[in-house]
Amino acid sequence: MKLWGGRFEEGTDSEVEVFSASMNIDHRLWDVDIRASIAHANMLGKVGVLTGAEAQQIVSGLKSLHEEIKSGKLELNSAAEDVHSDIESKLTEKIGALAGKLHTARSRNDQVATDLRLYMKLEISSLLQEIKSLQQHLVETSEKHLHTVLPGFTHMQHAQPVSLAHHLLAYFWMLERDVDRMEDAKKRISVLPLGSAALAGTGFPLDRQMVAHELEFLKVSENSLDAVSDRDFVVDFLSAGSLIMIHLSRLCEELIIWSTPEFKFVELSDRVTTGSSIMPQKKNPDVAELIRGKSAKLVATLTGALVLLKGLPLSYNRDLQEDKEYIFNGLDTVRSSLRLMLVMLRNAKWNTEAMKKSLRGDFSNATDLADDLVRKGLAFRQAHEVVGKIVSHCIKNKLILEEMSLVELQVFNPIFNQESVTCLEHTAVMAARTTEGGTSPKSVATQIEKAKAALA
Ligand code: ARG
Repeated sequence: MKLWGGRFEEGTDSEVEVFSASMNIDHRLWDVDIRASIAHANMLGKVGVLTGAEAQQIVSGLKSLHEEIKSGKLELNSAAEDVHSDIESKLTEKIGALAGKLHTARSRNDQVATDLRLYMKLEISSLLQEIKSLQQHLVETSEKHLHTVLPGFTHMQHAQPVSLAHHLLAYFWMLERDVDRMEDAKKRISVLPLGSAALAGTGFPLDRQMVAHELEFLKVSENSLDAVSDRDFVVDFLSAGSLIMIHLSRLCEELIIWSTPEFKFVELSDRVTTGSSIMPQKKNPDVAELIRGKSAKLVATLTGALVLLKGLPLSYNRDLQEDKEYIFNGLDTVRSSLRLMLVMLRNAKWNTEAMKKSLRGDFSNATDLADDLVRKGLAFRQAHEVVGKIVSHCIKNKLILEEMSLVELQVFNPIFNQESVTCLEHTAVMAARTTEGGTSPKSVATQIEKAKAALA
């Protein structure tokens, strides 16, 4: 039974039925669809468009539908045109012709926009929890590794030593901005379209504020044309989601590199790795690779949503039905990736010995030797030149910079003293970076306090 069959004489082409149906995608809106309908019916009862008794009957019918679907007693009809039609016909089966009054002053155009926003509002709240759990874990791990030194990289070359805490916390702050972006997106999602009807509003005396209040929207939309046809909130969400995935992907890339025998900085657990069907020795970081790979999906859904909207005239166009695939796909991918990232990190073994070992003779302490000369009065450019010569000397003679004696250093400049020798220790190099936001254990301890405050 179609919701719109009245003026048609011929049936729909069977391929068109399949082509235009969205039930296989939008079925997951059943819960919010019922909730929004309950709020709409309550409001219609209050403003007198429906009698109190009618509204009550519709609402209790919707509530028992909700129960039945939730418990699995009632199944959604996969052959329905979309979830809205299915719920309406189920309500008709339950309470009879009165169900037809629910759609008073409402169109599927404002209905679907409302359902989507309600759905995303709830889903983003739970997604934010997933991000917070991951952030929490990063903070906890960091607290244990304030003094764990490893090479910090630029251009993938050893640059200066940093602590593992400092390295992991970099991801904390990326995720913190992701939280910020998601919350911002959520704020704009929280605008109620219901009451816009098909495109122009309605003559019935609706109380839109009441519906907004019941469904916990921050406000009602200001323009009905915009309300039924805008999906920029989808782009907001997918854009924030893309950045989450890109951040996770970067971390995955590091875990993949760090778990190679060349690095051995981390060992990923058996729970998140897989073997090879031919090479018995293999333990592959597939989960990290898949998260990295799935980040492409978010970029694809974002691009898809943008292109979908481009050139759409006002107001609702059926093109918009395609948005859900992007949203649900994006949502599922971000959620599962956040969760698995946490599983991966929780079970990871940090090989602090390998990190330390990789620092020996890596010259990541060279800047500090130049800084030492600057403290003794040399201009930085001159100091840079002197230390450059020492590095070159070490490379040619297979010497370890931090193992050079004072006498050896003084060959290059007599103002070197005992301080110059001790400043070459990698832990000392790290501890010397005391600026706000630097890698010294003291600065990182402050950073952790701020991270905790952000989480609270
Ligand atoms: N299933 C449609 C969507 O997801 C909603 C129905 C509106 N259809 C219409 N012909 N006005 O956007």
